[in-house]
Amino acid sequence: MFKLAHLSDVHLGPMPAASPVQLAGKRFIGLMSWKFRRRAIHNMDVLNRLVTDIKQANVDHVAFTGDLANISLPEEFSRGQRWLSEFGQPDKVSFVPGNHDAYVKLSWEAGLAKWGDYMVGDLNMPGVRMKGNNAGLFPYVRQRRNIALIGVNSGVPAPWNKAWGHVGQRQLKALTEVLNKLHEKGFYRIVMIHHPPLPGLAKDRKALRDAQDLKLVLEKCGAELVLHGHNHEHMHTELETRTGLAHVVGVPSASALKTEKKPAAAWYQFAIERRSGAWTNTMTIRSYEGQGAKMVNQSQLCLDHRD
Ligand SMILES: [Fe+2]
Ligand SMILES: [Fe+2]
Repeated sequence: MFKLAHLSDVHLGPMPAASPVQLAGKRFIGLMSWKFRRRAIHNMDVLNRLVTDIKQANVDHVAFTGDLANISLPEEFSRGQRWLSEFGQPDKVSFVPGNHDAYVKLSWEAGLAKWGDYMVGDLNMPGVRMKGNNAGLFPYVRQRRNIALIGVNSGVPAPWNKAWGHVGQRQLKALTEVLNKLHEKGFYRIVMIHHPPLPGLAKDRKALRDAQDLKLVLEKCGAELVLHGHNHEHMHTELETRTGLAHVVGVPSASALKTEKKPAAAWYQFAIERRSGAWTNTMTIRSYEGQGAKMVNQSQLCLDHRD
């Protein structure tokens, strides 16, 4: 049995100090949003409770689907690096960037490179990111036993009132090859992406702009599990693919207090096993409960994988 934890949308606080030059343009609007709204939602005590709960679960691996930062300040990447190193070793945690980690145009070296070790592939396939490759190249593929984790980058800078994402033709082409090859070899394929990967799963201004293209790739090549964040909600969608049913699962923010619109922080555990020639996957939702500030089992679900 392989135990995987999924968390997303940490939105690490507090916001570091920044110069007026750094705060020019879109970052200023993001800072106001943090000050007047988000700061009260993303609570670091909640996050610490959730992290402790993941550590106690003793999982084999962690998938983290983006939005560790808020407005992509250089200092946020340094703090994020420290947070990640306390959270887990790079070979135990696989990260993909979110829109808040690509909030403004920034070179790889000035930002995401600080978290680069958590995005390095170890399964060499055509067009994928390995150490020494072109720094910003995605997807990357990691092999853990008969499980393959495929990290797709949907984080792109967007205009001030948009939170959209984009995968792009180059990644889609590589993803097509990767999914086909991994299926031939009998892997359980887990795709990680920040934005909900199918059309209609997010509001237009927050959606993946090429969700239709990604949906076609997933339908044509198949995947067993697709993990995403971004909406800060509990989400589960099933997609019929050429190789069977794909489960598309979205997790709430890892640091959120419950609000009128959004649920409290949660992380998901997947217990994945190959049994009698078929995959089984039991998903457990671990949710923050305000009462006593503890994490509780919210529900358990068997994800069917008929093929
Ligand atoms: Fe987010
Ligand atoms: Fe997001």
